[in-house]
Amino acid sequence: MMTANEVRESYKKFFEGKGHKIVASAPMVIKDDPTLMFTNAGMNQWKDIILGTKDPGKDIRRVDSQKCLRVSGKHNDLEEVGHDTYHHTMFEMLGNWSFGDYFKEGAIDYAWEYLVDVLHLNPDDLYVTVFEGAKEEGLARDDEAAGYWAKHVAADHIIDGNKHDNFWEMGDTGPCGPCTEIHVDSRTPEEKAKVPGRDLVNKDNPQVIEIWNLVFMQYNRKADGSLAPLPMHVIDTGMGFERLVRMLQDKHSNYDTDIFQPVIKQIEALSGKRYGFTTPTGPNGECMSEQEKTDVAMRVVADHLRAVAFSIADGQLPSNAKAGYVIRRILRRAVRYAYTFLGQKEAFLYRLLPVLVHEMGQAYPELPAQQELIGRVMKEEEDSFLRTLEKGINLLNGDMDELKAHGRSELDGVSAFRLFDTYGFPLDLTELICREYGYTVDEKGFNEEMAKQKARARNAAAVENGDWEIIRDGEQEFVGYDHTEYSCHILRYRKVTQKKSFHFELVLDRTPFYGEMGGQVGDQGALVNDDETVAILDTKRENNQSIHIVGELPKDLKAEFMACVDVEKRNASAANHTATHLLDYALKQVLGDHVEQKGSYVDPTTLRFDFSHFQKVTDEELRRVERLVNRLVREDLPLDEHRDIPLAEARQLGAVALFGEKYGDKVRVVRFGPSCEFCGGIHAKSTGRIGFFKIIGESSVAAGIRRIEALTGQACEDALYALQDTMTDLRALFNNAKDLKAALVKYIGEHDEMSKEIERFRAQTVERTKQELLNRARLVNGVHVVKAVLPLEPADAKDLVFKLRESMGERLVAVIGSTAGDKPLLTVMFSDDMVKDHGLDAGKIIREAARLIKGGGGGQPHYAQAGGKDVDAIGAAVDKVVELAHL
Ligand code: ALA
Repeated sequence: MMTANEVRESYKKFFEGKGHKIVASAPMVIKDDPTLMFTNAGMNQWKDIILGTKDPGKDIRRVDSQKCLRVSGKHNDLEEVGHDTYHHTMFEMLGNWSFGDYFKEGAIDYAWEYLVDVLHLNPDDLYVTVFEGAKEEGLARDDEAAGYWAKHVAADHIIDGNKHDNFWEMGDTGPCGPCTEIHVDSRTPEEKAKVPGRDLVNKDNPQVIEIWNLVFMQYNRKADGSLAPLPMHVIDTGMGFERLVRMLQDKHSNYDTDIFQPVIKQIEALSGKRYGFTTPTGPNGECMSEQEKTDVAMRVVADHLRAVAFSIADGQLPSNAKAGYVIRRILRRAVRYAYTFLGQKEAFLYRLLPVLVHEMGQAYPELPAQQELIGRVMKEEEDSFLRTLEKGINLLNGDMDELKAHGRSELDGVSAFRLFDTYGFPLDLTELICREYGYTVDEKGFNEEMAKQKARARNAAAVENGDWEIIRDGEQEFVGYDHTEYSCHILRYRKVTQKKSFHFELVLDRTPFYGEMGGQVGDQGALVNDDETVAILDTKRENNQSIHIVGELPKDLKAEFMACVDVEKRNASAANHTATHLLDYALKQVLGDHVEQKGSYVDPTTLRFDFSHFQKVTDEELRRVERLVNRLVREDLPLDEHRDIPLAEARQLGAVALFGEKYGDKVRVVRFGPSCEFCGGIHAKSTGRIGFFKIIGESSVAAGIRRIEALTGQACEDALYALQDTMTDLRALFNNAKDLKAALVKYIGEHDEMSKEIERFRAQTVERTKQELLNRARLVNGVHVVKAVLPLEPADAKDLVFKLRESMGERLVAVIGSTAGDKPLLTVMFSDDMVKDHGLDAGKIIREAARLIKGGGGGQPHYAQAGGKDVDAIGAAVDKVVELAHL
């Protein structure tokens, strides 16, 4: 029996034998496409080629195994995961592509050969579907595909399918076309005899499932819904790797294969529970037994572990927005299943990671390379959710009890939102738990609450982009690596409105302006000709082009301009960018090879660099890093740039790539001496231009991720002068002491001495005052009444009355009015017997007396203090207290 790893290899080898180039999986997390957060199909990374906007080069046949995630957007399988045996969040898609080479016949023949001749699947178990056509789109039945299939399978194994199943689309827009699916019937002979397999195709039968989809890409779905033909025919196939392995290993469930079993075994070992190989047997897939619940939970955990681990490996940390929130939701869903059904009250998922890495690390080296980081991030995220999970579950149980008591079946949006907002329950988790008890959630109400909160939080009004106004046809050429000034024309512009202000965005035919990308800010500068100068305030990047932001449009939009970059700012940014490369290199040298860049930001005055490392970087290590960077600066290493070189060549140069970054076939490599990186940014011509490098901060940004902030060049100079000025001022304060440190130590010593002295002095004063007051105490009906108005600090007044009580013991009424600054303060003390036997209450009495000083306060029956505003009335207030004591 083939292992999963062998199956993956065999697929790639088969197509390699048919002239396909084996390529790597693209990252699962997509960073530069606003329409898609995660790779949801193998073809995503070839979208440009399929649409005809990028030349495929000589490799017009390719094959790979692509990490995919289907948890959002058009393709979303999250709810099924765990409850059935063949859906996943993350899965591997085996794909072969032909870009304008073989088409329908070739794809069908290869697929058949691989499944039947190589893998020896039984042809009697295979069914294929073909597109039946769609009148409303003007599309006919795919007779062509049906004809090619007829070469291989009996007519009753070819089934017509509708647009939903047999016309594949990437999203609402983009490449699409008819497809043909291959389904496998893995039921027992008895079951097969009862119902023919063809009747169960696409009917959600867990034993008759689709394993391979061959898409004949012929159209581009436009935003208006129409179909435009593609410039060339493309074959895009996707085979569900987990499903294929299951067929080959003769299992009933994807989770029973060697892809998931090692992790499930580990879940068993750690939880002490057994996996029962069951699936939910209740109506609508509800669990009917404890074992079914356990099994669903184990599948959910085994599945979600992969999705979360691979996303983190691709650089996507869990967070509160966009792709990060999708990952957080998946992780929280797994935590909750483990908590409720596997009895895991502490972080659990991260403990399964070593097994996953052992199983998949060879095929996906990004996993072992970042194992420690992934584990730390997972654990921190689990710990943080577990802190509120139990409270949230209790709250939700209470809410559901309420629903039951009132005979209602829907949880209101406000409650669901409170769970989200306070306890971090994603809506789908609340829905899931409610569903388990037969309740639904008012999703609309939840969204309204969410919208209200957003509206509260939002300050900036939405940005509105106007349509592009075309001045000239054409695309932009970027000349910024070689020039900072260049002659140009405006190709198009648009107006962008935000609140009441607006600006314009320009696309130039040639530009030296770098648009913000890869953590480096965009250039500023101006468009200049004899007639006018228009300031360029910023440059951003969109669809691989620099978009120039201007406050006002040039008067003559058709004129020729010089596009002039603000060289001083650019050089400062470039120096900072180059310094991040040296810093990256130095950190790896000093801390070790586990250091991976996780983010960066540079502008003319800022240098920020985030990287994986698992403890605080010590002061000594930071200094070694600084020294190494500064040595490379002094060596004045020249920029050694390799533009548009093939990816393989770049790797040979030893260039450092980022995990989760998508690189084209041609890349740019930037080298300064020993530092060599893939990079598209603007750099200093040599490291000497950095001038000087100084770290000013080291901190943590997330579990296992540290941040360094540093200064270079003139910013260092400014910082040094600022420091020098501070020192000069300090020295002046100490009579220009030669040894400032010694002067400070002496000063601090004296200061401490003096504080102690003052303390002693105060205590003496309080003691003396107490004696005087006791001597002057009046006896009223056998009670000692001590009253006075004195200039005392509040703490001393308190001290004084407590001392009075200590000396007097019983039968004491003490009232001190004090004034510190311009604020009056009333302090009252009754001995315990006055409280017990005479029923006095200092708290109550002081509230009334304090009205005279326009203040308030309170306290206990025996002691109270009250502040006020009217200093002149303090004497009257003191008398009032005595009066209210009714002695
Ligand atoms: N692009 C096709 C799919 O994802 C192969 O099913």
